[in-house]
Amino acid sequence: MSHLPTIAEELQPIVWQDGHLLLLDQTQLPAREEWVTVRDVAGAIEAVRAMRVRGAPAIGIAAAYAMALAAHSIEVPTMPAFLGELDAQAERIAAARPTAVNLAWAVERSMGVARTCSTPAEAAERILALAHTMREEDVESNRAIGRNGAALMPDSGAILTHCNTGALATAGYGTALGVIRAAWDSGKRVQVFCTETRPWLQGARLTAWELARLGIHATLIVDSAAGALMASGGVAAVVTGADRIAANGDTANKIGTYSLAELAAANGIPFYIAAPLSTVDLDVKSGADIPVEERPAVEVTSLAGQRIAAEGVDVWNPVFDMTPARLITAIITERGVLRPPYEAQLRAPHPSPLPQEKTVA
Ligand code: MRU
Repeated sequence: MSHLPTIAEELQPIVWQDGHLLLLDQTQLPAREEWVTVRDVAGAIEAVRAMRVRGAPAIGIAAAYAMALAAHSIEVPTMPAFLGELDAQAERIAAARPTAVNLAWAVERSMGVARTCSTPAEAAERILALAHTMREEDVESNRAIGRNGAALMPDSGAILTHCNTGALATAGYGTALGVIRAAWDSGKRVQVFCTETRPWLQGARLTAWELARLGIHATLIVDSAAGALMASGGVAAVVTGADRIAANGDTANKIGTYSLAELAAANGIPFYIAAPLSTVDLDVKSGADIPVEERPAVEVTSLAGQRIAAEGVDVWNPVFDMTPARLITAIITERGVLRPPYEAQLRAPHPSPLPQEKTVA
């Protein structure tokens, strides 16, 4: 573990420094701003599994850097042998968490670059350059999502969000939280409600911390208060992120998102998903085809290391759920706002090319 000086105004939780990956350890927030140094693929996989880095875009960027660590560590002279070993590492990295498509997306982009190289040394350099580019692209995408989504937010009144979709869940700025932030920056004086997000408390620990840092006042609710809040007329819009969006618009996101979407529909409240196009998986037709990660029972039976559940009880701990496209008012992306039906728009070729990779020293 190493400690970096307090982060600059813009929170960027993924940093490449001196040939290593540094991650702001999200298991320690908000109590401690502690950075963990990742030196190899095993370290990167541990960080993703243990949720030191979490949030779909953030684990995608971490995976891109894990590919750079892998490429730099493979010591074989020929390209076929190098590609074989890199591919094996790519599979391990992509399998670290199953639901967010960003992991597979990131390692596939890295493999695509590697396949065009003539030597392992060239491939290692270009995979690292790609990781830097993906990190920059992610922040740019999030700012665009923020701009596109801010227009949909109410001028006043309350916005409800779930889990953590801020800078911590991305390379910087955030997706759904970026929309809230952009709305606030454009002068909309909205009130923000964030759910606690059991069992891992991404809302209570991370979103509340980020909003406080940004000077945006927030009110924390337990997850089960969302229905009462919406029924009271206290919510003008709900906006959340996504871990994977199927071709038909069905969206996998943090457990509890589906309940919020049903409650929003029942109360006539618009329900928005904010996500970069890297979260879209056109290979899956609907939410039924998206794998849902189940995590250990201890996350539910204990709180801050203290057992809270009665001994002997069984636990079911799926950490994502599916929100059907019919409940989603719009999907806010970096390329614009998509309205239902989603499939043709999601399948349409992107109007502008993705930025080219850049070399960063
Ligand atoms: O289990 P987590 O904390 O990785 O889950 C995160 C979410 O569900 C987020 O809403 C999603 O990844 C979007 S983050 C911009």
